Amino acid sequence: MSGEALENLSHEDRIFVPSPEFASKANGKSDLYTQAQTDRNSFWDEQAKNLDWDTPWSQVLDWSGAPVSKWFVGAKLNVSVNCIDRHVAAGNGQRVAIHFEGERGDTQTITYKDLLDRVSQTANALTELGIKTGDRVAIYMPMIPEAVISMLACTRIGAPHSVVFGGFSAESLRSRIEDASASVVITADGGFRKGSPFGLKSAVDEAVASIPSVKKVLVVKRTEQEVNWNSERDVWWDDIVSKQSTSHTPEFFDSEHPLFILYTSGTTGKPKGILHTTGGYLTQVAYTYRVIFDIKPETDVYWCTADVGWITGHSYVAYGPLANGATQVIYEGTPDTPHKGRWWEIVAKYGVTILYTAPTAIRTFMKWGDEFPQAHDLSSLRLLGSVGEPINPEAWMWYREIIGSNNCPIVDTWWQTETGAIMISPLPGVTATKPGSAMGPIPGINAEILDDAGTAVGHGSGGYLVLTKPWPAMLRGIWGDMERYKETYWSRFDSRYFAGDGAKWDEDGAIWLLGRVDDVMNISGHRISTTEVESALVSHPTVAEAAVVGAADETTGQGIVAFVILRAGSVDGPGVAKELRAHVAKEIGAIARPRQILIVAELPKTRSGKIMRRLLRDVAENRTLGDVTTLADPTIMNLIGEGLKSSTSDDD
Ligand code: WT7
Repeated sequence: MSGEALENLSHEDRIFVPSPEFASKANGKSDLYTQAQTDRNSFWDEQAKNLDWDTPWSQVLDWSGAPVSKWFVGAKLNVSVNCIDRHVAAGNGQRVAIHFEGERGDTQTITYKDLLDRVSQTANALTELGIKTGDRVAIYMPMIPEAVISMLACTRIGAPHSVVFGGFSAESLRSRIEDASASVVITADGGFRKGSPFGLKSAVDEAVASIPSVKKVLVVKRTEQEVNWNSERDVWWDDIVSKQSTSHTPEFFDSEHPLFILYTSGTTGKPKGILHTTGGYLTQVAYTYRVIFDIKPETDVYWCTADVGWITGHSYVAYGPLANGATQVIYEGTPDTPHKGRWWEIVAKYGVTILYTAPTAIRTFMKWGDEFPQAHDLSSLRLLGSVGEPINPEAWMWYREIIGSNNCPIVDTWWQTETGAIMISPLPGVTATKPGSAMGPIPGINAEILDDAGTAVGHGSGGYLVLTKPWPAMLRGIWGDMERYKETYWSRFDSRYFAGDGAKWDEDGAIWLLGRVDDVMNISGHRISTTEVESALVSHPTVAEAAVVGAADETTGQGIVAFVILRAGSVDGPGVAKELRAHVAKEIGAIARPRQILIVAELPKTRSGKIMRRLLRDVAENRTLGDVTTLADPTIMNLIGEGLKSSTSDDD
């Protein structure tokens, strides 16, 4: 195609073919697709053999029908041994595992040998605190090395961890600790964010006050801020971990031993504790990391900007990179502290070669201006990744041109907390990519797009994304609620996993993800349910009723817009919306704070009383209203529309 013809193409019509140079050295090869198609189980069998197992499996997959699968049946392994000990044993103890960069500029260099010592000490400390195999440990931490060290220490002793994002409120933390009946909480006094310390220990104090299952709280001193201390229950990390022996003899656990629980929002108010197990999870995470991020552990420096509180931080900060013996950067803070070039300064400082981040961050940088990345030497970069929400073609092109200098393949990776690892993505060096498309299922994964009746649609058509075959890293259930597990994922379409996303095939057979099809919003790549925010709003004494929608947002993908009816006697004053926004942040966490709150007199309902969110979304996105004929009272939409025009969204 001539340059001129290319110029005339819109972004989504472009195709980027892998460079022969990248392709010749790529870990992923096109024959992986053929191998997986020919014999799926032996394909996964081969991937599993890249890990160290103590006892081999008798069967790759036990699938007697949806929804329960077992992978690598009867085998035993230890995750921390795979992530650390074997690299040290192979002579790579001096390789850097983690370059830690604190927001205030403090740094730590942690080699694989250092990591082995620190994880062993932490495992010994957890044992001293009474943790036994199978006991749950909650982790509520800033992005500091101890967060990853704690996770690995849990895996070393077979104690499933439940990491709770440090931005969640005391109440969100409480309900998660209680649901998993965790007996120990690992936390820090606080962390640094936007140049100031924030507190974590205080939220833990509030959360565990009413939970008798919590026997001990282990506290890392990060900020030196004042904390309340319960000497029966609280233990400083430095007092117990540092005095432990650096040797620890690991046990090996069944392939299906629970590895962790991670809570995510569903369509009801109660978050789901997604359960992952050991062997299959590590197999798929290690494999995807190797072929999708094309990791060359001797030379690459990888940086994933996700927090360990999300699945991306589990699979592609903790387990994927370490299982592959990679060197990575962990950064504690925000992209604009102390200046808007901080990320690019970090890329240049450590010579980052692979960067994995979210579209919301990319769009934010686009908005800030090219001068920030352009002030730094980004020439070390050779591969870029995106995750969390659909990436719009304009952001994809900006990422490619400004961050990648037009010579880095981009992998747009679709997956979920539930899938545990990447499912749909190009293979760099193999797949020709289109800006905005996640392209197709990776080797070993099978996906389809179905219409309402459950029939697979063809190229050029859209519908519901499903996964048609079990995969090693798939969730094994919802903690304590197998019924909800079946109902949520396996009841919409017979024997197929319903992801909750809309998708379409284009004419060439590439997949385009179209966003959620349920009442789940995606705010900056984070999943929040409309019901959860509605419950938080109605828990405020002035609120009678609330309806929440996710409205398109230029930067965050979606923004939360709430329509609220006040109780009789409550007056709508200038401070009301502000107070309600703060209330939601306190109940759930700052990420759930509505972008906009609109006080209304009525909500649009059908005659049977169901709120018509579709119409509220039309209002929130300034669109002409869709069909209003099923409304009990069609005139109320005029009132709501008028109200929105006069409302302001404050940015406090
Ligand atoms: C939901 C899962 C997977 C780690 C981060 C989010 C959306 C995720 C993409 C992508 C389009 C994406 C989906 C999915 N999503 N990646 N590359 N393109 N949409 O994990 O919180 O479990 O959310 O995020 O809607 O269902 P999560």
